[in-house]
Amino acid sequence: MAKTALITGILGQDGPYLAKLLLEKGYKVYGLIRRYSNPTFDNLDFLGVTKKIEFVDGDMTDESSLLHLIKRTMPDEVYNLAAQSFVGASWQQAKLTTEINALGVLYLLNAIKFFSPTTKFYQASTSEMFGISHDKGFQDENTIFHPRSPYGISKVYAYWMTVNFRESYDLFTCNGILFNHESPIRGIQFVTRKITDGVAQIKNGLADKLHLGNLDARRDWGFAGDYVEAMYLMLQHKTPDDYVVGTGENHSVKDFVVEAFSAAGIPDWEKYVVIDARFKRPAEVPNLKARASKAEKQLGWKTKTSFKDLVKMMVEADLKRYEAK
Ligand code: NAP
Ligand code: GDD
Repeated sequence: MAKTALITGILGQDGPYLAKLLLEKGYKVYGLIRRYSNPTFDNLDFLGVTKKIEFVDGDMTDESSLLHLIKRTMPDEVYNLAAQSFVGASWQQAKLTTEINALGVLYLLNAIKFFSPTTKFYQASTSEMFGISHDKGFQDENTIFHPRSPYGISKVYAYWMTVNFRESYDLFTCNGILFNHESPIRGIQFVTRKITDGVAQIKNGLADKLHLGNLDARRDWGFAGDYVEAMYLMLQHKTPDDYVVGTGENHSVKDFVVEAFSAAGIPDWEKYVVIDARFKRPAEVPNLKARASKAEKQLGWKTKTSFKDLVKMMVEADLKRYEAK
């Protein structure tokens, strides 16, 4: 019989890439969607998988919806990707961020414990939990957490709850501590996509400025399509554990800008970029760089897409979108 997986956050960036991977492996995929006045399936359509998913209703802030859902579907695997995932918004919406990202995970784990204890669980943990910790110049599974935003703090709670359900109830629960990963369907608020979309607008004469915040922040940027393979591999491993996933290379926001303008064939990026205080954060995470050797050794996972190829892929997709319009 086909394995079954429930993906929360199915309409976001990672949900569609993971759904595609699992469908290719023969899974039946349930995708959790919350109530929407005007739902958009654009990201799933982009990967051509919308029609192959069975959509189920629920909300991470509504415990009973998750209890019913797990009781009804009893999936082999749950990938919890749902989150208020934009760090910048988490200062303004700290309570909502906590309810979705922290308490929502507790509700989901409880539902699994009560109704489907053999279900394997993946939690979308994040390098934002490390915040300003980088005592060795990189972060790995032994690096202490020092989150810098309500988002990062909510994810630390979820991380430890995931570990605790493993230790207390012997559930198969894993944390993937993923560093930034991007793609042509990355949300438009995140800096990479904001830059590639802005570059495409400038190239097509639809804008003449790109407003950004801190150009010095450094991130370890990989491709989402590579990272969902690590999620899958964690749940296939013989024992549940927590893994850092990243490329081991980092670049500044400015490096991304330079590469993106160059990929679009626009000289003199400085003519277009405006530093705008509105996009600076009350507390910044200045420098994230992964050491993913545990995932490489134990899971056989490796990043495949270079920084240059990632930027090019995103710029080309946005140029194509504007040309099509
Ligand atoms: P994303 O594009 O923001 O997608 C998040 C999804 O969560 C959206 O589909 C959203 O649904 C859903 N969601 C939000 N609140 C919900 C609620 N109350 N109930 C049900 N669903 C809800 O995020 P992503 O980039 O794919 O990331 C996936 C996960 O990995 C997130 O948990 C994120 O925090 C984590 N993560 C991401 C990265 C990265 O670089 N991308 C790195 C580390 C960890 P709507 O469409 O209805 O808004
Ligand atoms: N969004 C945004 N917009 N960020 C900007 C801008 C801007 O105009 N200008 C500079 N930045 C800087 C931010 O201050 C930050 O240092 C960096 O660009 C990256 O910002 P985001 O792309 O918003 O991502 P993030 O690193 O804060 O968070 C993402 O990665 C995390 C993993 O480390 C999100 O996907 C999180 O959900 C994820 O957990």
